[in-house]
Amino acid sequence: MSVPLRIKGLVKNYGSLEAVKNVSFDIQPGEIFGLLGPNGAGKTSIISCIVTLEEPTQGEIEVYGYNVAKEPRKAKYKMGTVPQELIHHGFFNTQEILEIHSGYYGIVNNKERINYLLHKLGLWEHREKKVRQLSGGMKRRLLVAKALVHQPKLLLLDEPTAGVDIELRESLWEFVRELQKEGVSILLTTHYLEEAEELCDRVGILNHGQIIKIGETKKLIKDLTHRKVTFQLKTQDKGLEHEYKITIEGDRHIFSVPYSKTIEELFNELSLTLGDVKDLSIQEGSLEDAFRYLLGGQGE
Ligand SMILES: Nc1ncnc2c1ncn2[C@@H]1O[C@H](COP(=O)(O)OP(=O)(O)OP(=O)(O)O)[C@@H](O)[C@H]1O
Ligand SMILES: [Mg+2]
Repeated sequence: MSVPLRIKGLVKNYGSLEAVKNVSFDIQPGEIFGLLGPNGAGKTSIISCIVTLEEPTQGEIEVYGYNVAKEPRKAKYKMGTVPQELIHHGFFNTQEILEIHSGYYGIVNNKERINYLLHKLGLWEHREKKVRQLSGGMKRRLLVAKALVHQPKLLLLDEPTAGVDIELRESLWEFVRELQKEGVSILLTTHYLEEAEELCDRVGILNHGQIIKIGETKKLIKDLTHRKVTFQLKTQDKGLEHEYKITIEGDRHIFSVPYSKTIEELFNELSLTLGDVKDLSIQEGSLEDAFRYLLGGQGE
């Protein structure tokens, strides 16, 4: 069966620079997949190869079973892209741009879809403005609308929320979730790891052109991070020595506990019961912690 996206052994060199090194991954139907990594890791280069803006040095890319090198037109009908860079169309207004863009896909009367997207993305009041009259955030929304005029089944979002205020970020992600429910598969890149953690079913972490980790977001966090467990005791008469203990701050004992160990097991090993404890807090590991762990402090 054809999957929304299959990348096999992708290599992209720019002259002597190896920007993408033997990258392989799939995206399943209705999945939100996050491609994460520091600046220059190769995320945009991968997306450029998928949308045929760049030619791969090696490797194969299929979109719904269409090899993008051999059948680019068919593959392009299946996907929509929001590029990282804002593009300026000086002469046309918002609505005209969406009409022209529909024309690229051979869709003549696309009014209903265009009106839907204008409303959905908060652009209706701005539909007669020329692009140069739009704010940065509105330009981003226009890019999202453009990517969706032909109802693609695979959506590629390259940092769609860069430089966008929190309200728009939230509404964009909500829209992405709605698209997912409609069966659209989504590949996104973002430097907002908290948002990626909330949104992405799976993530791939890229560094220097290589995928260094890929998997379900929740599992990856459990595998790579610890929980921070802090508690205060009612009395100070217990020693509380343990390999997971990291520090004491005042009367607060702080432990870094792997997900393989339950809090109950930790308590048993410390010969404690809940009755000994005055206060307890547990801070879960995050995608940001996992990212830092993998990249050893580089990147964001
Ligand atoms: N057209 C190009 N010609 C030459 N080098 C390029 C070109 N595009 C990208 N590069 C280089 O390839 C590497 C990967 O860049 P890319 O834009 O794919 O990174 P990225 O992960 O998208 O980074 P960011 O988070 O900053 O967007 C970088 O070293 C970059 O300088
Ligand atoms: Mg990029």
